[in-house]
Amino acid sequence: MKLPDTQVAVLRSVSTDDPETVGSLAEELGEQTQAVAGAAFELEERGLVDVTETTETDLVLTEEGQHYAAEELPEHAMWTAGQSVGADTDPVEIGRLAGEAGLDGEEIQIALSNLARKGMGDIEDGSVRVDPDYDAAGDPERGLLAALADGAADSAEFDEATVAQLRRRNLVAERERTSRHVTLTEEGVTALMEGVEAAESVGQVTSELLTSGEWRDAEFAEYNVEADAETVYGGRTHPLCEMAERVKDVLVGMGFEEMQGPHVDADFYINDCLFMPQDHPARTHWDRFALADPERMDREALPDDLVAAVERAHREGVGPDGEGYHSPWDEEFARALALRGHTTSLSVRHLAGIAAGELDPPQRYFSVEKGYRNDTIDATHLLEFFQIEGWVMAEDLSVRDLMGTFTEFYEQFEITDIEFKPHYNPYTEPSFELFGRHPTTGELIEIGNSGIFRPEMLDPLGVDADVMAWGLALERLMMLVTGAEDIRDVHGTLVDMDFLRSEEVTY
Ligand code: PHE
Repeated sequence: MKLPDTQVAVLRSVSTDDPETVGSLAEELGEQTQAVAGAAFELEERGLVDVTETTETDLVLTEEGQHYAAEELPEHAMWTAGQSVGADTDPVEIGRLAGEAGLDGEEIQIALSNLARKGMGDIEDGSVRVDPDYDAAGDPERGLLAALADGAADSAEFDEATVAQLRRRNLVAERERTSRHVTLTEEGVTALMEGVEAAESVGQVTSELLTSGEWRDAEFAEYNVEADAETVYGGRTHPLCEMAERVKDVLVGMGFEEMQGPHVDADFYINDCLFMPQDHPARTHWDRFALADPERMDREALPDDLVAAVERAHREGVGPDGEGYHSPWDEEFARALALRGHTTSLSVRHLAGIAAGELDPPQRYFSVEKGYRNDTIDATHLLEFFQIEGWVMAEDLSVRDLMGTFTEFYEQFEITDIEFKPHYNPYTEPSFELFGRHPTTGELIEIGNSGIFRPEMLDPLGVDADVMAWGLALERLMMLVTGAEDIRDVHGTLVDMDFLRSEEVTY
């Protein structure tokens, strides 16, 4: 019988009674695992070998487990520190002990509860006493972490209770591994006895084969379309960026031009030009990321007449009745630099004629850019987000134009049930929040904020037409389109790699 090289080698290396793994065969033959697996499957098809698959479960360290295996379990750190500060004789206050042990945040709690559980000490009234007689070296949890870090994997050899405990602590996890075993069949034995020899089989057509005409007599290796192949992940665009591109296409299709501008900007453009009083709560350090160096924009960088007009609007109001807050205004305060909390700073720069020259109505502008806010991270908030900013300038605009624009925009994403809620912004009147219904949870989620810019804002910028404007959240749109329930699944460091690799491009 004539067989391709690798098949002959595999057939000669396996036996009827001692299953060999594909991995060890590959090593023995000096071949690639995939080539050996392919050969084994072909031999199986000819009935010469049996290939069986088994799944084994390995115990592996989680990231946290690896960390503690490399450093020390927090309860051990606390126990050791306790002895060096005398907590083996008199109780020591938890904060001090934690500091001594180099523990902070969640780790303190972890250390305390495990210390108590393992009888390494007692906790009472906010203080800890450690037991010097505890056998730290004999702690089975510590032992198991060390063994796993050393490469042990066979869970059958481990103490079940310890494994269960570490699993509860999320320090170890199970991982399945499939291995293939190859054995020789009776037919295989017969074939070997009758004699097999290597056939010159060709895996790939080369130009030499073609030009020399040798291809006519060559024996080609058959394709095995069922063989497992290695998964190759090429680079790809982040799904959220794909969404951003899609939004840009839609807005360009609706006749909008794209705005660009700085991520770090003076508060003047982020807030003051929006008629946001300087004592507005959103302007405190709780909400914004201030720049330390440089702290302020240079005085010369701001246009004098714009500064004067904005200051007048804040101090004296706008219009014949001088309506407004009549609030104090400080130029130095306005020059403070921060990461923009919204991209409305770009709209301001354009409306003021700084970014793209004087603009006469009609105009339509948009951006899909990052904004930064010092929010508490949760399912709908991160510290940065993509804002779909936009505005339309025309002689005569009404709320109907605003709502119609949103209806048209969201329809492009098959979202036809947006809802509007009256809202307040210092710079728009009237103002509306937009809501969309989440496709899987059915909850109404806020997807944007909008309104018609007030004269108190537009007048100092030198605009005398109507301007309607909005800031929509790209991540929220993404959640509505993909059904993602947590913003952290879509964007940021916690995003699942499989999602990034496999999320479909929806155009
Ligand atoms: N700046 C607003 C926000 O970040 C969005 C907005 C822009 C609202 C323009 C009205 C007009 O929420």
